[in-house]
Amino acid sequence: MTDPSLRVLIPSEKIQARIRELGDQISRDYPEGSLHLICILKGATFFMTDLARALKRDVSLDFMGISTYGKGTTSSGEVKVTKDLDSSLEGEDVLVVEDIVDSGITLNYLLHVLDQRKPRSIRIAALLDKPERRRRPVHVSYVGFQIPDEFVVGYGLDFDEKYRNLDDICVLDPQPAAA
Ligand code: PRP
Repeated sequence: MTDPSLRVLIPSEKIQARIRELGDQISRDYPEGSLHLICILKGATFFMTDLARALKRDVSLDFMGISTYGKGTTSSGEVKVTKDLDSSLEGEDVLVVEDIVDSGITLNYLLHVLDQRKPRSIRIAALLDKPERRRRPVHVSYVGFQIPDEFVVGYGLDFDEKYRNLDDICVLDPQPAAA
């Protein structure tokens, strides 16, 4: 599939190699026991399934849906939980799995919500980080790649629900209007 509006930023092999490194690091960092992974829908599903397989320990999985309004504007950003977790977090070592941290609004809000559910520990793993865009502080313990402020798609990330199934992470360049 060749799409002239797509430019590969991080090829699939590099993504997979970095996930193996993250898996090793996370496996070393945690004490014995199970790790509870929370995938933030929908973009992080691809990263979550590969990361889970790179972890050398037992894991349990849960999913959370979030919608955010006003991210690209000067407004504060309103966050809403659209699908809540299936199980309690009490006493769990929780790793929140995200595809990308941009303004930080989603994760800043989410950490407050999840912290109230009394996990034993809570950390974040994000495949991509755009530090230039940050508007809310978020501590991300495990970052795959820091990337520049460009619009990226693929490996879970979409534009209008398209491109999530690309193996590579690509920059989506605007195409000039046809003459
Ligand atoms: C993306 C991403 C994060 C959030 C990050 O989700 O998956 O959840 O935006 O942005 P922030 O740091 O500015 O809050 P999106 O709303 O695009 O939903 P999707 O994963 O379902 O595509």
